[in-house]
Amino acid sequence: MAGNVSAPGQAHWSSKGAFVLAATGSAVGLGNLWRFPTEAGSNGGGAFVLLYILCVVLIAMPLLLAESLIGRHGQRSTVASAAYLARQSKASPMWSVLAVIGLIANTAILTFYCVVAGWVVYFIGTSAADLVGAVSAGTPLAGAYAGDSVEQIQQLMPTLFANPALLVGLQLAFVVITTWIVARGVKGGIEVAATWLMPAFFFLLIAITVYAAITGDFAAAVAFLFTPDFERALQPGVLSSALGQAFFSLSLGGGAMIAYGAYASRDTNLAQTSGMIAFADTAVAIIAGLAIFPIVFMVGMEPNAGPTLMFQTLPAAFHAMPGGAIVGLLFFVLALFAALTSSVSLLEISVGWVTEKFGVSRVKAAWSLGVLVFLIGLLSALSFNVLADQRPMASVPGFENATWFDAIDGVTGKLLLPLSGLVTAIFIGWVADRKLVNGETGLKGGGLKAWRFLIAWLCPLAVAAILVIGLFPQLLG
Ligand code: PHE
Repeated sequence: MAGNVSAPGQAHWSSKGAFVLAATGSAVGLGNLWRFPTEAGSNGGGAFVLLYILCVVLIAMPLLLAESLIGRHGQRSTVASAAYLARQSKASPMWSVLAVIGLIANTAILTFYCVVAGWVVYFIGTSAADLVGAVSAGTPLAGAYAGDSVEQIQQLMPTLFANPALLVGLQLAFVVITTWIVARGVKGGIEVAATWLMPAFFFLLIAITVYAAITGDFAAAVAFLFTPDFERALQPGVLSSALGQAFFSLSLGGGAMIAYGAYASRDTNLAQTSGMIAFADTAVAIIAGLAIFPIVFMVGMEPNAGPTLMFQTLPAAFHAMPGGAIVGLLFFVLALFAALTSSVSLLEISVGWVTEKFGVSRVKAAWSLGVLVFLIGLLSALSFNVLADQRPMASVPGFENATWFDAIDGVTGKLLLPLSGLVTAIFIGWVADRKLVNGETGLKGGGLKAWRFLIAWLCPLAVAAILVIGLFPQLLG
């Protein structure tokens, strides 16, 4: 047999463009719309944005290339692809632990991702009802929730949180759509979803940004996002938040990019596609900031609202703006599209592994894992009411007050994704066969040298340092 054969029945994207679109769909998600503005808002704006861009270019992009090449070389599930490259490099297949950590982390992320996406579905419902009301009252261009006070609007989220049955129902709905797409397959499900949803997403995002620029306080948003406060940027918490966000936003950490890379064809230039994916994802995060903050500043609200920014601050801001009823609905539809193309990639990681390992059909694997993800996700969904008092990690420093939701989010984001990324960088930079790896990158000359330096030295050192600082902030006083 040749040195590099696909596992039997291995699916492929129908083109390089389809791969880029699907991988961008994985990268662009709630991480860009909900987490990036939240993190930028609570970490001082410009300082965070600058560090974030540095983390993307110097650490995340080289890792994105490393992950996609593991997948493309292996043409198997994430775990088997990593083991395959290790064996071909005459190294221990134990290196596939990077993908095992990734598989666990990404499946855990999916459990709470579906909960947050459920909130998005809820706001689509309330915005749609509001718009129908506005249209029938003959005022389609009214602000969102025109008949309500700001307090009433900000009450929408607590009201949802107080209703466990509704929360779980919405979470379930989102799990079902995600599973249905993945069950339909790589080409017929994931690729079709990305091909329809991503262009629609980009169109809506641009429309909302133009609206925000015209009606909102665009100058204040630009100043907030692009005026770096260097003192702030040097605080250790800001750096580890920026790196964590870069990992999350680019779907890194031993999972999605290996899985999607495995469906890429041999003639795809992975260095080029990695650059395109990282660029598109960063552009969307910044554009999302330019869509959200002008609206927030226009109505004099604070940018550092935290996770409720998207669900409490924004709806209240749409309230104060002409056309807010329409734009508010469009915004949440856009967020749903983005969330779906990411959640399918999160599920695909374990589905690919289960079908390969246990020889079950994709449909069976997808629905069984969907059920599992839903059940574990209940812990997160109920963290806001029934289980609000539980502190699963009460004895772990730094996590004393974490609910289930916070614990799963924190452990995956602060620990497992960077850990998997660290092992990946060491494996690709030091252990894996140089010739094989270099040949997969599509890089030559200076570009290849630069990438090898970043993946072998900068990535492991920076990720290890930030991992330690993130876990033991007291080290820095
Ligand atoms: N990148 C996705 C987002 O920004 C989330 C994600 C993380 C998807 C990890 C896959 C793997 O929302």
